[in-house]
This record gives sequence, C-alpha cells and structure tokens, in this order.
Amino acid sequence: MTTTTCTPSMLGDLDIELKFNEPIGSRTWYRAGGSAEVLAHPRSVEALCQLIKRCHENDTPVRVLGEGANLLVADDGVDGVVIRLDHAAFRGANFEGGHCNRTVRVGAGTDLMGLVQESARNGYDGLSHLAGIPASIGGATRMNAGGAFGDFASAVHSVDVVAPDGKARSIAAADLEFAYRHSNLAEVIVVAANINFIAGDRDAIRQRVKEVFAYKKRSQPMADKSAGCMFKNPTDPATGERVSAGKLIDQAGMKGKRIGSASVSLIHGNFLSLAAGGSASDVLQLAAEVQQRVLDHSGIALEREVVVWSKRGEVR
Ligand code: EPU
Repeated sequence: MTTTTCTPSMLGDLDIELKFNEPIGSRTWYRAGGSAEVLAHPRSVEALCQLIKRCHENDTPVRVLGEGANLLVADDGVDGVVIRLDHAAFRGANFEGGHCNRTVRVGAGTDLMGLVQESARNGYDGLSHLAGIPASIGGATRMNAGGAFGDFASAVHSVDVVAPDGKARSIAAADLEFAYRHSNLAEVIVVAANINFIAGDRDAIRQRVKEVFAYKKRSQPMADKSAGCMFKNPTDPATGERVSAGKLIDQAGMKGKRIGSASVSLIHGNFLSLAAGGSASDVLQLAAEVQQRVLDHSGIALEREVVVWSKRGEVR
C-alpha cells in the first residue's frame, strides 16, 4: 500500500481534536497492540466529511475505531488517520414522543449494548436479539453483527454514510447487501443507522434481553480479554449449512492450546483469550495454528471474523 505521512498542517484547520502517535491497542477489548499515527475526533459531520476528503486526496489511510470489540491492532501500530466518532454529533438516540412504531436515527459512535438496554427501557423492541454483543453502531452496521438469535440487518431501515470524496448520503436497507457478518459498506464511513423499532410491552422486551444475555454468559468467556469469536462460522460443504467454528476448533482438540500469552478458551473454542500485557503477535500466531489444525482435522478452512489492523493492510 502506498501511503503519505499525515502531517499536523494537513488537518490542523478542521474542527477536529487531533492526537499524534496515540496508543489505540489499549482502547480495544484485547488491550494489546500499538499506536495510530493520528487519532482524530471530529466534532461535526461537516468536519468528518472534510477529513475524509482530504485524506482521500492525500492517499492517507483512514480507519474508524468503534468499541474495539472485534479488532486486533498489530504491535507496531498503524499509519494514517484513525477516527473516533465519540463527540455528541455521532452519539445517541432519541425515543421521546408517543409510544408507536418508529424509525430512530442512531449515531455511529453509540454503544450497541447501551442502546439495547435503553430501547428496552423505553418499551421498544428491534434489537433485543443482540443483547450482550459489544459494538459501536457503526461497527455493528458494517459487520452486520449478530449471533444465534439474529443479526443487525433485520432492524435497519437505512444507513447514513460519508463516501471517500467527502459527500454524505443515505443508503436504503434494500441496497445494503447485508449477509452473514457482511455488508457492502467497506468503502464508506457510517455516520448513523436509522433503526426500525417496534413499540411493545416493556417488561416482556426486558425479559427477552435478559434471556439472550444469559445464553451468552453461559456459553462464552465474557470475563476474558478477547475480540469475541475469532473466526466466522463456515459453511459445511457436506450439508451446505453453517457450522460453529467453535465446535470445529473443539473437535480438533485445540481448547486450552497456548502460544505465549494467547490461549484458546476452555469455555468456547472460537474465543482466543489474551493474558494481561500479552502481544497481538501471539494472538495472530495462535489463530494461524488453529486454522491449520482445523483444516487438517475437518478439511474446512476457517476465515477470520476479527479485523486485523497493521501497517501492511486491512484499512478501516
Ligand atoms: N460448541 C462446541 N464447542 C465449543 C463451542 C461451541 O461444541 O467450543 C457447540 C455448542 O455447544 C453449540 C454449537 O457449537 O451446540 C453452537 O455454539 P454457540 O451457540 O456458542 O454458537 P456459535 O455458532 O459458536 C455464534 C456466533 C457468536 C454468538 C453465538 C451466540 C459466530 C462466529 N459466532 O457462535 O458470535 O455470540 O452464536 O449467539 O457467528 C462473535 O461474532 O464474536 C460471536 C461471539
């Protein structure tokens, strides 16, 4: 990848809080990995549009850091600009007004787990099936976050984005090409998702949230440092059905396998946990070993779900 260095003069006039050589690995759930050349916190959508346009014109890589829950940052960090949408312009949802079915605009920097709780408290369903999934709304949209009870796509009305040329636009759900852990939003920055909420019985919705969360708590190592499931559930060529990558890793005898500070969880095989102070490279080596062993054991190639940022690739 050919990139240019991002200088303070390139962005200094914009309404953006800028930090140079700022640690970002510590902001991910793994609490591992290096720094960003620039960490940018835009204060408005206009400032974000200008930032994107300028980076595009200068061939500067742009990545968006959400909750850091599905992300591994390489130990030597990343070049270019990392954006955090944590100013008020990019956060929150408004449920005020009458209790009726409605579409609510939710900023990309809003925390999904908080939104699941807030909407349930206000008597709105639409996201209860995603209880316990750590994500920003921007990340959940782009990855089509989900689990055994459904995915994010089912609740989306439309998505507001900024294109590389700095122009803002809205994309209707029908044009989003959502699939399992996939959308066609890789080339744009999500600014907000417009979510369909269904007015219902507050206690029943809160009960459903509790049940979904309890399932996750029972079956996953939630206290460990990890990025959730490391691999996507692959399609079994024999049946055409998706099969749990965790189950395949378990069957390959990999639970408890350790490389340095990283280990395969004993609770769920698709969680690669990291000890305090551990390195991103240990996780990557262990992931490669798991892929090889599952391929040898079952003939199925696992594809990574967790996004890896490094100087060599995978932007955003
Ligand atoms: N299983 C094993 N051994 C394991 C793990 C699972 O035998 O080590 C078995 C379970 O006993 C169960 C089956 O595999 O019979 C499915 O397990 P689970 O319900 O945990 O679901 P999963 O397919 O492994 C998916 C999502 C999770 C999500 C859960 C629950 C993927 C890659 N994973 O896991 O999402 O939380 O369903 O909704 O789609 C994530 O994406 O980060 C993630 C954790």
